[in-house]
Order: sequence, then structure tokens, then C-alpha cells
Amino acid sequence: MYHDFNYQATLASSLRAQWQLDDVLRADQSLDFARNFMPESLSRTAAVSSLNPFEQRILNQISAHQYLAIFGVVEEFILPFLLDHARPYLLGDDWRVRAILNFASEEAKHIHLFKRFHEAFVRGFPVECQMIGPSEAIGAEVLRHDPLAVGLVILMIEWMTQQHYLGSIRDDGDIDPLFKSLMKHHWMEEAQHAKLDTLIVDALAEGRSEQQIDKAIDEFFEIGGFLDEGLRQQAHFNLDALEKVIGRKVEDRAAMIEQQHQAARWTYIGSGMVHERFQATLESLSPRAAERMAEAAPMFA
Ligand SMILES: [Fe+2]
Ligand SMILES: [Fe+2]
Repeated sequence: MYHDFNYQATLASSLRAQWQLDDVLRADQSLDFARNFMPESLSRTAAVSSLNPFEQRILNQISAHQYLAIFGVVEEFILPFLLDHARPYLLGDDWRVRAILNFASEEAKHIHLFKRFHEAFVRGFPVECQMIGPSEAIGAEVLRHDPLAVGLVILMIEWMTQQHYLGSIRDDGDIDPLFKSLMKHHWMEEAQHAKLDTLIVDALAEGRSEQQIDKAIDEFFEIGGFLDEGLRQQAHFNLDALEKVIGRKVEDRAAMIEQQHQAARWTYIGSGMVHERFQATLESLSPRAAERMAEAAPMFA
């Protein structure tokens, strides 16, 4: 076995790590719009040389708006996936059921947390930022795929939040401490989810032939391609919002969209794809699956 995760121990550590919304952001708290919100390793907004520092900061904050909205969308399809997976086990192993239901309940709390940050963002930001969606339609498209493919997408997302947290503490730029706290608290619970999702993926892959695994990886890439298209669309919306705030059209719009789209690819796909724990799970499914992922990863770097 390439891991020693189990439901009972993970439930116990989940319960120890749990926090309340107010520990991260109170409903009446304000974000500090004089600071960046996203680590540069994710937003890559300081790298946009045609913008002045003020404009880079605005784009950084828009990229944080994207973060809140995308995690809102993602959490919304994780929830039904978990409930569907728990249902067949209701009469069986109660550690598994308790652990998965607790996992689901934490994701429901994360939806609240991202909404609360989103409301604080909207209160302090001068223009409305448009978002891809609606989230129900995105969720329905993801969930129509093979549960093993969906489970792998979710596993990738759980592990990537570790990269996000590490990025936020390594960043020496002045990120709003509330955003640092968001990344930290999210990862504290996601670290437990990643273990549970590893067990879920193991269960979904059990008894599958090499060929069936390969088929699930095809579907994983289908979901990845679909999400990536959403990220491209979102990059357009982000530039629209930037132009509204700074009151001028940017000259190198196409190049800027490409650069920001690539930053989003790394944030929401690539940083999970290359996570060694995610790679280890793929390796255990089939060496071919790990190989295919490694081949695709540079596109999302
Ligand atoms: Fe979450
Ligand atoms: Fe999670």
C-alpha cells in the first residue's frame, strides 16, 4: 500500500482540525484593499509589465475574486459527489459513513466561507466582476462523468490547496492577512479530505482493468479540458473588470489574457497535477495513468 490512510483516524484528525467561520472571517469584517490578496506564485500579476503597480494590485485582487468564485463552484460539485458515494455504505462501515459525511459537511462550510469572503470583496471593490457559471450547470457537466474521473479531479483539487497555502506563506509581498488565513484554514481541512478522497478513489478503482482505468483517465482529461475552457472565459471577464476600474483599454489585451489564463491553469489544475501524493495515487491505479498525467502537466505549468 502506498499510503496508510483510514477512515477512523482521518475522522479523528478532522475533528481536531475543525474551525468555525468566524475564526477565519467575521461577517462584518473588511478586506484590506491597500494590499494584494493572492500570492504572486498563483496570480502572476506582478509579472504583467505593461501595468503600473496600482493596476497590478487591482488585477491581483480580481484574481482573488476569481479564486473565491471558482472554489465556490468546485465545492458545489464536491458535495453531491460525496453524498452519492456515501449512500451505498449507509448500512456498512460506520467510520466510513461518518468520515464522508463530516467531509461533506466541511465542504458545505467552505461554500459559506467562500461566499462570506465574496461578500466582503463585493463590499469593498469599485466595480462588479463577472463570473463564469451558473455553478449548477458546471457541476452537472462535471458530474455526468465516470465517478472515478470525478474522484480524481476532486483529489487533485484537495492536494492543490496545499500548494496555495504554501504559496501564501512563502510570498514576501504584503498579502492581506485575511487571505493568508483563508488559505491556511482551507488547507487544514483539505489535508484530511485529501486522505479520504484517496480512499474513495481506491474504492472506485477496485476491480477495474487497465483499459477501464485508461478510460477514466480520458474522462479526467475531458473534465480538465472543460474546466480549462471556463478559465479562459474567466480571464476575459477579469480583463473586462480591470479595464472598468482603471478606466482605459489595455493595449496588449490578447497577450495579457493568455498570461493570466496560464496563471489560472497552474493555480486550479497544474499545481494539483504535479503534487506527489496525487501522482502516487495515479501510480497505484496504473503506471500508464501517471505517465499520461506527467505528459500533460507542462501545459498547465
Ligand atoms: Fe474545501
Ligand atoms: Fe475539500
